[in-house]
Amino acid sequence: MHEGLHQRPRKAVRPGRRQRLATYWASALLLASGVLWLVAHHLLPLPEFAARHPLEPWAMRLHGGATLFGLAVFGSLWGDHVLPAWKQGRHRAHGGALALFWLCLILTGYGLYYLADETARALASNSHIALGTLLVIGLAVHVGMAGRHRRPQAS
Ligand code: HEM
Ligand code: HEM
Repeated sequence: MHEGLHQRPRKAVRPGRRQRLATYWASALLLASGVLWLVAHHLLPLPEFAARHPLEPWAMRLHGGATLFGLAVFGSLWGDHVLPAWKQGRHRAHGGALALFWLCLILTGYGLYYLADETARALASNSHIALGTLLVIGLAVHVGMAGRHRRPQAS
């Protein structure tokens, strides 16, 4: 913005404070609700006569809400951040990987809604959970690297 000394001023691509906060909240809620489901599904003892743990549907209700919120946040970042940052060519490797994880999580999540075949569902489920872990690591790496290379005057 105020880069009068540069011949070609670069558009600021750092997400604003609210956008950053929204990104962290969405990611944290998606992770927390996903992990809650995993714990309820695999670790907690089943109450008597129950086919599944009563926490499971609650975890997925929260996860569904977090998904809607997360997709809105991702959509706002796409035009404001992902595309312009890609054009500038900075942090492409881990930024691009993070964007890819989001897209694959959306695809596998969609599969979890509609796949009926047991093998296909299991594949979608396992890939989704692995990608969920990668998403969290990817965000930490991306934000860490972006912070390390930030120019001092940017706040
Ligand atoms: C092709 C994809 C992407 C590229 C090339 C990219 C590139 C960048 C760059 C260059 C910065 C530093 C901005 C600056 O300080 O001037 C940055 C910061 C950031 N990026 Fe990305 N990014 C990509 C995708 C994403 C995605 C998908 C997300 C989250 C869903 C994301 C979240 C963030 C956040 C939160 C920051 C701010 C970190 C901070 O300064 O505290 N980025 N990115
Ligand atoms: C872009 C981010 C994400 C999207 C769009 C997304 C979407 C979805 C959707 C649509 C479902 C199916 C909901 C249902 O059956 O009621 C689901 C299930 C699930 N998600 Fe995510 N999710 C995301 C991130 C994550 C993360 C970060 C984790 C953390 C590990 C995670 C873990 C899970 C788990 C454990 C399930 C249940 C799997 C199963 O039913 O076999 N998700 N997700």
